[in-house]
Amino acid sequence: MSDTAALASIEEEGRRSIAAAATSAELRDVEAAVLGRASPIAAQRRSLGQAAPDTRREAGQRIGAVVTALTEALAERRDAIARTERTERLAAERLDLTEVHDARRRGHLHIVTRTQAELEDTFVGMGFAVAEGPEVESDWYNFEALNMPRDHPARGMWDTFYLEPPADGEAGEPGEAGEPLVLRTHTSPVQVRLLERTPPPVYAVMPGRCYRRDTPDARHLSTFHQIEGLAVDHGITFGDLAGTIETFTAAFFGPNIHARLRPAYFPFTEPSAEFEITCPICEGNGCRTCSGTGWIELGGCGMVDPAVLAAVGVDSEEWTGFAFGFGIDRCAQVRHSIADLRVLMENDARFLAQV
Ligand code: PHE
Repeated sequence: MSDTAALASIEEEGRRSIAAAATSAELRDVEAAVLGRASPIAAQRRSLGQAAPDTRREAGQRIGAVVTALTEALAERRDAIARTERTERLAAERLDLTEVHDARRRGHLHIVTRTQAELEDTFVGMGFAVAEGPEVESDWYNFEALNMPRDHPARGMWDTFYLEPPADGEAGEPGEAGEPLVLRTHTSPVQVRLLERTPPPVYAVMPGRCYRRDTPDARHLSTFHQIEGLAVDHGITFGDLAGTIETFTAAFFGPNIHARLRPAYFPFTEPSAEFEITCPICEGNGCRTCSGTGWIELGGCGMVDPAVLAAVGVDSEEWTGFAFGFGIDRCAQVRHSIADLRVLMENDARFLAQV
């Protein structure tokens, strides 16, 4: 039955199955069905034995041609499927490297940390060293050595967190038996510690965290940061203090911002002053932040009181000095127009990402 029509339909049928195979696994099944032992073309070959000897050779050639044609069609289809499968695999394995940069945003230092570093840089540029002291402080350093004996009414200027003194405290240290411990209410105790260990001349700034038992509001925090300044040398005058504050103000806030001093009282300086700077938001014209005055209060200052020098054994006949202290958080607030200081403590990532 190896007539031409039968062979033609076997070839056509075979080509159709080959074209219909969509994957290499399907094509392997099709190959077995089209050319394998149970395939119609194999049956044709087996039937050759019964063919008349004079037609056998020609019939064999026709069968061989069909096998060759189907083998070629299979090879072509195999190549085509392999190409498609490779393209699909590459698409599935593709990594979009351009996404990585956005997916991982880098963090940065907190605005208060950065402001503190910039303040230190400014004062270092003016010839000051940087010093530090402890946040848990003894009553003596925080108050007594600063000319505020026990029961001095000026202690009321600082609402203080008191700590339980440890029973086994060592003499001369914060926590000496029976001596009250406080969370320091300002950085002024570091003036005392510095003068104790460094004889004048001394030029230093002392930044750090402070605590007050205040209810936080838009302009006050109960945990906040101050930077203290101290200069003790021969012949230091109030003019040096005013000049230093003005130089610092212009250097840190910009040339259009100036400082002014207004009489005030602190137990550890005499005379004492409050210092204010031109409101950097309205540049002195008056706005909500400065309550229409054009000025913003930054901190206190004055000439070091002789009683403070006496407490650390410095001869106030020979040496004089000035001191100042102001809020680092307040500087960050003014410089970056932060309406409410409390955002500095809240750790809200939406705020932190902006500043
Ligand atoms: N320690 C004062 C305060 O916290 C500020 C100050 C520092 C005033 C140094 C005078 C001299 O309010």
